[in-house]
Amino acid sequence: MGTVALRWDGQSLALLDQRLLPAEERWMTAEGAARVAQCIRDMVVRGAPAIGISAAYGVALAARHAGADWRGEIRHALRALAESRPTAVNLFWALQRMERVFEACASREEAVARLAAEAESIHREDLQANLTMADQALAVMAPEAPLEVLTHCNTGALATGGYGTALGVVRRLHEAGKLARVYADETRPWLQGSRLTAWELARDGLPVVLNADGAAASILARGQVSWVVVGADRITANGDVANKIGTYSLAVLARHHGVRFMVVAPSSTVDMSLARGSDIPIEEREGSEVREIRGMALAPADVPVYNPVFDVTPAHLIDVIVTEKGVVRQPGEAGMRALFG
Ligand code: MRU
Repeated sequence: MGTVALRWDGQSLALLDQRLLPAEERWMTAEGAARVAQCIRDMVVRGAPAIGISAAYGVALAARHAGADWRGEIRHALRALAESRPTAVNLFWALQRMERVFEACASREEAVARLAAEAESIHREDLQANLTMADQALAVMAPEAPLEVLTHCNTGALATGGYGTALGVVRRLHEAGKLARVYADETRPWLQGSRLTAWELARDGLPVVLNADGAAASILARGQVSWVVVGADRITANGDVANKIGTYSLAVLARHHGVRFMVVAPSSTVDMSLARGSDIPIEEREGSEVREIRGMALAPADVPVYNPVFDVTPAHLIDVIVTEKGVVRQPGEAGMRALFG
């Protein structure tokens, strides 16, 4: 099997500890919902779809370990998991699906079986959505000759139920013989690009070139890159997109240099209840993520840090949003409503 972020054997959830990559491949077992919530908060598992899938299995684990007050324990698990991270809507979407199934269960035994089955469906559907999106994106790009693309963060098998969203598109280009090179932004401060994307793509033999985030402007200025391809954590009703910090600056750069900008995300990332990107809660994390790396000082120990880990790219800078339900070109309210109601 190729790279995966999580494994479910019907009874327990194993997570590949993404904090240790690429130095070490260590799997850990998340025994219950509280542990899954902690693993999401601490970034053992990360990436919008993978967070949603893990949370769903967390609810299934809560049912499995529940006692006489199984309803109370599952409700508690749903709350704890919802508090793990705020920005990726896939988490809340998955928990809502789990909650609907839970509310329809009449016994603990029924909840154990049905919640596990629902989490497995969420997992399976995500992988299928990625394969569909890759096909759609290839049709949009319609490359005649091998292309260069640039991506940000990690949107691959490690961030999803498998294959990847934006990296799924990169994989599909490669499979079609149409990928000349993929530039991977290193993605400060957590380094998803260098630690995860470069690892995942190099492992599978794709032509990846790692670059510092600050190099993106001069790479795009050379005129060889055809598309910037990124994922999303939440897409609002007007087509604004929250994604990893630094995505917005890439979109500005892409527009300046006439490079097309594609967002690839499953419909579980779409939040039609929010009108615009400024309504999205943006997670801010510890300053230590910027000041140090694995305990090594990169800055004065007490320097104040501003560390928002997502930003919002306005819809007008995006050429196309690709989902498994279809594509929205020049996204705006009308295009989003036509596809998502
Ligand atoms: O903080 P992370 O690593 O969870 O952020 C991940 C991203 O921003 C990804 O681009 C996004 O979740 C899409 S993953 C398919």
